[in-house]
Amino acid sequence: MNTPSLAWSDDLVIGVPVLDREHAALLAMFQRLADPDCAGDRAAVRALLDTLVGEVCRHFDDEEGLMHESRYPDTAAHVESHHLLLKQVNSFITLLDGQPDGWAAANISDFVGRWLLDHIREDDRRFAAYLIAKR
Ligand SMILES: [Fe+2]
Repeated sequence: MNTPSLAWSDDLVIGVPVLDREHAALLAMFQRLADPDCAGDRAAVRALLDTLVGEVCRHFDDEEGLMHESRYPDTAAHVESHHLLLKQVNSFITLLDGQPDGWAAANISDFVGRWLLDHIREDDRRFAAYLIAKR
């Protein structure tokens, strides 16, 4: 099942082009993960998850780098929420590894995709407003 709510939309733009591009690319990957053609193929799901985790880590590094550079006062709390998300993703991957079918893939796409949308709309937008005001 493709989850339309994971689609990129203008209300997700935070105004920092590098982060907007990365957010859009991550959402596209979560949508691919939820695609039934992929969800039924365990090896494809596992490979996509590995790629996705790598891309999420790279994105968090970029975002956190900008926070440190700009001395964003809420950096610690924001970084902590990134860590929590990665912990949850890794738990889902462990779950998937122990499951005979691909249900955990749709589950991870739904859960993490929604987390990402909320995170972009609230936490990332707050950081972007700070960064733009500082420039
Ligand atoms: Fe973030």
